[in-house]
Amino acid sequence: MSSIKCIDLFCGAGGLTHGLLLEGIKVIAGIDIDPLSRHAYEINNGAHFIQQDITRTDPEELQNLYGSAEIRILAGCAPCQPFSTYAQRYDTKSKPEWRLLREFARLIDTIKPEIVTMENVPTLERHEVYMDFKSKLERLGYFVWQGIVDCASYGLPQNRRRLVLLASRLERIDFVEPTHKDNPMTVHDAIGSLPPINAGETHPSDPLHTASRLSPLNLERIRASKPGGTWRDWPEKLVAKCHKRNSGKTYASVYGRMEWDKPSPTLTTQFYGFGNGRFGHPQQDRAISLREGAILQGFPPTYSFLPEGTPVHFKTLGRMIGNAVPVTLGRVIGRTIAQHLEITPKPTQNVKSYVSRKTELTADVQT
Ligand SMILES: C[S@@+](CC[C@H](N)C(=O)[O-])C[C@H]1O[C@@H](n2cnc3c(N)ncnc32)[C@H](O)[C@@H]1O
Repeated sequence: MSSIKCIDLFCGAGGLTHGLLLEGIKVIAGIDIDPLSRHAYEINNGAHFIQQDITRTDPEELQNLYGSAEIRILAGCAPCQPFSTYAQRYDTKSKPEWRLLREFARLIDTIKPEIVTMENVPTLERHEVYMDFKSKLERLGYFVWQGIVDCASYGLPQNRRRLVLLASRLERIDFVEPTHKDNPMTVHDAIGSLPPINAGETHPSDPLHTASRLSPLNLERIRASKPGGTWRDWPEKLVAKCHKRNSGKTYASVYGRMEWDKPSPTLTTQFYGFGNGRFGHPQQDRAISLREGAILQGFPPTYSFLPEGTPVHFKTLGRMIGNAVPVTLGRVIGRTIAQHLEITPKPTQNVKSYVSRKTELTADVQT
């Protein structure tokens, strides 16, 4: 049990950790600066949450956590906002988040874990900070795989493309093949059976199955919206002034409804707002609920995000859920690592028995 251990940097609510655990990768700890993530991270994953700014993380502290593990996995999904398409339009270079990938590299440089994994938005690939990160791994002797992963091709009911990097000091590592290329999971598969609620309502049996309020104007607008359509379907009187201007003609991707028979659009941290994207429910006159967003991110329907009785704030929960690595992608990364370790000459007897431990580790996870 002690031979393969993973530490998840920037662990948030634990999307990546949960996926790795479900594939039998033992995650012992997650580090994140946000204390609000502690509950979700610990209760669903049984891993230790360390509230810390990564810029202050001492590599020796991480090495102590790994103890005598022979395969040390270091995962890290730094915040992606400075690299997102939206942020590219502004000068965000001065933002401290740019440094965080360098901080990840600093920890790798000292610890030299056997396996490293990183996820971020596809546009990061073009940035110097990422090129430096990758070439540092290569200089350190890692075999590096990188690619833009289409999460819908792996069974996530959401169109979400992400840059994934996997690096191994053992031997060449290749990402597993897509499983759902021609048969993607749909919005209906994911949330079709949830009980109906109105805008501004919370279901009595699940505080997260809550939908944000709609103003009388937005209620009229969603009633006039078609699944997969845009505000162009509305009668003239409902169209916002900014959309009528020439400069607004490009904003077709706001105020839309999802379609039952397709994967959802990419969720952002504001997926709970009808005006923030194509986040309208396919049938009910409201934006999707926080729970529906979590399920579209691959979280099991019972994943607990807050201690019982804690007030639910859309902004906080939207950030935790929308920023997560989809659990489905976490599983695919976990499966890739697991397959890689099984085909690699194992250094010790402990590592050889890795496969038989899978069931035991998976059983630790609450689903
Ligand atoms: C993209 S999210 C990570 C999502 C997470 N891996 C998951 O799968 O749910 C980025 C996380 O980085 C955290 N973060 C931002 N700056 C940080 C810092 N300086 N040190 C540690 N964590 C930080 C944020 O609180 C946020 O939870």
